[in-house]
Amino acid sequence: MFTCFRLTHYANRNCRIKVKIAHIRPFFPILVGLMSVFSKPGQNMNCPVAAAAKFRQSAPMTNTCERRMMHATSLAQHWNTAYDARDRSDLTWTQTDQALGEQLGHMGSLVTPDSACIDIGAGKSQLAAGWVSLGAGHVAVLDVSDAALDYQRSVLPQTCEFIGASVLDWTATRRYTLWHDRAVFHFLTDPQDQSAYVAQMLHALEPGGVAVLSTFDADGPARCSNLPVQRYSSAQLADVVHRLSNGALVAQRGYQTQHITPKSNRQAFQTTLFHKIAR
Ligand SMILES: C[S@@+](CC[C@H](N)C(=O)[O-])C[C@H]1O[C@@H](n2cnc3c(N)ncnc32)[C@H](O)[C@@H]1O
Repeated sequence: MFTCFRLTHYANRNCRIKVKIAHIRPFFPILVGLMSVFSKPGQNMNCPVAAAAKFRQSAPMTNTCERRMMHATSLAQHWNTAYDARDRSDLTWTQTDQALGEQLGHMGSLVTPDSACIDIGAGKSQLAAGWVSLGAGHVAVLDVSDAALDYQRSVLPQTCEFIGASVLDWTATRRYTLWHDRAVFHFLTDPQDQSAYVAQMLHALEPGGVAVLSTFDADGPARCSNLPVQRYSSAQLADVVHRLSNGALVAQRGYQTQHITPKSNRQAFQTTLFHKIAR
C-alpha cells in the first residue's frame, strides 16, 4: 500500500507539498501502529475474521487477528502434543463404535448425495468416514492440528476436503449443508471468540442447513484435554447461539449423552441441532 503512497496537500492553492515515500519511510512503524489503534472492526477486510466484525464491539480488528493467529499456533502445538502422546484409543474423547453409530443415526437423514458435510475439529474421529459410507456428496474435515489432519488423510478418500486451520481463522470457500462440532465450541471461553465462531458457522452454512454442536453438558467436566471449557445445557447453548446469530440459527432439538472415557470416567455431553433459517 505504501509503495504507491503520495501525499499531496492543498492547504493553500499556491502551496502544493508532495511528500515522497523516502521522506516518510522512517515513520512507517509509527504510522502502522497508529492505524491499528484507530482502525475500526470491519475495516481490515483481508482479515479472515472480518465477517465476524458486526458481532464484535470492542478490540480493534488488527489486534484481534494477531491475537487469534498467535492463539492458533499455540493451540496447534497443544493438540499435536496431545495426539503424539497417546494412541487414538487412549484419547479421553475418542468414541466407541457404538457411540459413533448412534451419533451418525441422529444426523443420518441429513447425509445424502446432495449434502456437503463438514466436521469442525475432526480430530481422529471416524465421523467423516461414516458420512462417506453413507454417501455424502461432499465431505470436509477441519482441524488446527496437523496430527489430526494427517490421520483424516489416512482414512478418507483424497476427494475429501482437508482444511488445516483454526475455525476462527479460516475463510470458507464454499457452503455446507451440515456443520458438525463435537468438543470444539466448548473450548471458546472468550465471548469474542464465541461470537466469531458463530459468525463463521453462519457464513459457511447454506440457508436451510443444519449445525450439530456437542459440548460438555452443564454438569460435565470443567476441563477437557487440560484446557478450561465453557459448559452448556442444551437450552443454554440454544440461547447463546440464537443471540449471537441474531436469530438466524434456531435450535431444533437437543439431547444428552454420557461419554465413557478409556479410564471408565463418565463425561456428560449435550448435543443440539440448529437450523439456519433462509432469510
Ligand atoms: C476434544 S478433540 C475432539 C475431536 C473430535 N471432534 C472427536 O469428537 O473425537 C478437539 C479437536 O478440536 C481441534 N480444535 C480445537 N480447537 C480448535 C480450533 N479453534 N479450530 C480448529 N480445530 C480445533 C483439536 O485439534 C482437536 O482435534
